[in-house]
Amino acid sequence: MKFSDFGEKFTRESGILHLMDDLGEAIASGGDWIMLGGGNPARIPEMERRFRQSMNEWLADADAFESMVGHYDAPGGHRPFVEAVATLLRGEYGWPIGPENVCLTSGSQTSFFYLFNLLAGSRKGARPGKILLPLTPEYIGYADAGIEPDMFVSARPTIELEGEDQFKYHVDFDAVRRRVDDDIAAICVSRPTNPTSNVLSRPELDGLVEVARQREIPLIVDNAYGTPFPNIAFGDIEPVWNEDVILTMSLSKLGLPGLRTGIVVGSQAVISAIAAMNAIVSLAPGSFGACLTRKLFESGEVLRLGREVIRPYYEHKCARALALIRQELGGRGYRVHRPEGTFFFWLWFEALPVTSTELYHRLKKRGVLIVPGEYFFPGLAEDWRHKHECIRLKYSQDDESLERGIVILGEELERARAE
Ligand SMILES: Cc1ncc(COP(=O)(O)O)c(C=O)c1O
Repeated sequence: MKFSDFGEKFTRESGILHLMDDLGEAIASGGDWIMLGGGNPARIPEMERRFRQSMNEWLADADAFESMVGHYDAPGGHRPFVEAVATLLRGEYGWPIGPENVCLTSGSQTSFFYLFNLLAGSRKGARPGKILLPLTPEYIGYADAGIEPDMFVSARPTIELEGEDQFKYHVDFDAVRRRVDDDIAAICVSRPTNPTSNVLSRPELDGLVEVARQREIPLIVDNAYGTPFPNIAFGDIEPVWNEDVILTMSLSKLGLPGLRTGIVVGSQAVISAIAAMNAIVSLAPGSFGACLTRKLFESGEVLRLGREVIRPYYEHKCARALALIRQELGGRGYRVHRPEGTFFFWLWFEALPVTSTELYHRLKKRGVLIVPGEYFFPGLAEDWRHKHECIRLKYSQDDESLERGIVILGEELERARAE
């Protein structure tokens, strides 16, 4: 069968397909794999109990279930939930927003597909628009989301070495300013960043807001792990929003990735555009996530859960996993990006004699799945050795398999370094 250009582009091998295939294979095999790869959040018992309780309350309500499954929502998503989100964010941060500034999608991956193609690509009377990623490595899921080819350009960060075994990326504003030309249609960052766990400082974020404002383009901030929910950020950070910022959020990392619920907070023009795209692509986003969590948002309980359950849970996991890394990888030439959020470690094996993709294959043969670093540099024109020296490792799974996985990683590193 002959596919269109769109069909060809969206069916070829991509990083995100590879990652989701690994994830599917690992789940289907019923637990033989040590899954340090894909982005499933941890199953936190207290969160699961809370979701089950919401579900029970909801089923006990005379008509709530039938009313949810029995009709389509508006293209902007379930209105009571949209109102609850707007009220919560207005109350928490004083942002001048109402329901007209909030829209739902089928997960933030879908939000990015909409936003990138809404803003970038062919434009009447202008050069094709591009999305600037001001700091790569950046989220693997952006890389293939453009309908038109070559939609991303990115800037290398500066690297600060910290202590014996850590490092941290910073935005290189000279590189960003050099690249911000009239073909840049929007700037996009994840904060905290998947894969590195980097959290852009407030001055860095304000600097990007300013660059975007000067060029009259939006700054998209991907808050999938950020505050106020799910709050998988280990410092005290605040999100930023104004009419030129598009903030994307998601219920996934609260522990509900199966419900595919994304939230976009933006100007009325952006929100109306996303709702219009929802109508064409899917009539309306699904209602399940919104209905199940509405009361958590209305009461503000979602904020308490983020503060008292989710963040401490991942902070504890992170500390334990870091101790394991130090114990097993010590002396084997590694550095880890300073852990500031998410549930990933970004490990850098400087001067590794094999590429991170080769390391991925060797680990896969031993039943351990990680994600090779090469995928996380969309839009970076030059080859950079660093790209081939890093891997992403997820630490949200059970401690026992994490430990086995890190031991095997240490062995494979030793083998590679000895070659
Ligand atoms: C940074 C980032 N953005 C967006 C997503 C997409 O999340 P979802 O579509 O489940 O909301 C992910 C998922 O892992 C992510 O890590």
